[in-house]
Amino acid sequence: MTEDPHDPGGERVILEELELSGRHLTVCEARPSDAPRVLEMYQRLSHRDTHLRFHSGFRPNAAFVDNWLDRSTRKGAVLIVIEGDTETGPVIADAGYIPSDPQTAELAMTIDPERRGWLGPYLLDVMVEHARAAGITNLVAEVLTNNCAMMTLLRARGCAFEPSSDLSVARVLIGTEAHTPVWAEGAPRPRILIEGSSGSWHGARAAQQAGIAIMVCPGPERGRAHRCPLLEGRQCPLVDDADAVIITLPPDDVTGRLLEAHERQGLRSQPMALSDALRERFGDIADRVTFELDPLVSGPETVDAAQAAIAEARDPDDQQGSQQANDGCGGPDRCDDAGP
Ligand SMILES: CC(C)(COP(=O)(O)OP(=O)(O)OC[C@H]1O[C@@H](n2cnc3c(N)ncnc32)[C@H](O)[C@@H]1OP(=O)(O)O)[C@@H](O)C(=O)NCCC(=O)NCCS
Repeated sequence: MTEDPHDPGGERVILEELELSGRHLTVCEARPSDAPRVLEMYQRLSHRDTHLRFHSGFRPNAAFVDNWLDRSTRKGAVLIVIEGDTETGPVIADAGYIPSDPQTAELAMTIDPERRGWLGPYLLDVMVEHARAAGITNLVAEVLTNNCAMMTLLRARGCAFEPSSDLSVARVLIGTEAHTPVWAEGAPRPRILIEGSSGSWHGARAAQQAGIAIMVCPGPERGRAHRCPLLEGRQCPLVDDADAVIITLPPDDVTGRLLEAHERQGLRSQPMALSDALRERFGDIADRVTFELDPLVSGPETVDAAQAAIAEARDPDDQQGSQQANDGCGGPDRCDDAGP
């Protein structure tokens, strides 16, 4: 028998073993020879599940599964859960990630319809730890916005969103090192954090066209306030590394506590935009912010004001540095090569 270079027949890499109601479950790294059993699990999915997993009516075939295992295991990993004997028992879940850059990887996962209820959160935890050990800091999932189970799973871990041009798909980020994702190392500046949106932000397109990086955080979810590091008195890497924060939360007590937490963390260095309703209710804090627009109704104007506020908040030494860096370039508006 020819040896498969990606399935050299060495020891199976087992990550966890569980006994549950008389069933033995093994969580391990997938090998190419597991493909037929992964395919059998996909074939047990309903049409709705298949659509949620693959974002189309496509029914996966053997070639697709071979490719998924091959690509993922060469560049990242696919973890599977096997019930019973590891070489012959059914695969009841898979979770894989493929790096898109050295710190970020795209994830996807499936749980057998008969085995849902706790396995999703458990396997996600194992995958997060596996990715962390491989040097990945953020995992990104492209999730259909009507996929309530996956959204709930990711939200419970403390997620943020990257604006997506397709409103039916959310790009959801989770961190591997803390309960918050981080800005990608190469993300451009300025960086604006939107707090309190469920995934999209109406100014995102204008901001991105202006070269601004946007990250959207749901803010402290009602009933899940402990997921917000600021409300626990800890630093939030998304806030720490943002140049401005736009808050779109309702003017309630949780938002009030969040504003106070921001202030404690050094509001001045991160200008914020507040809605009129927030200003009215939390005037004392609003007085100390520099960013004068209603983020609920403005689009490109908010982006312009954010840039102005960021420049104002920057320390004078820094401004001198960026002035020097800009010498000789008036920006795209004044550039003959800027194109149409
Ligand atoms: C998404 C998936 C992996 C989640 O795994 P799971 O074992 O079902 O996870 P759970 O049953 O714990 O559900 C996760 C959470 O969603 C909630 N949930 C499940 N179905 C829900 C629904 N239809 N509406 C609202 N919430 C739902 C659960 O109550 C749970 O929340 P809780 O922890 O607060 O109770 C699994 O459902 C699946 O394989 N779906 C089909 C394929 C898919 O969508 N993959 C993801 C593509 S990126």
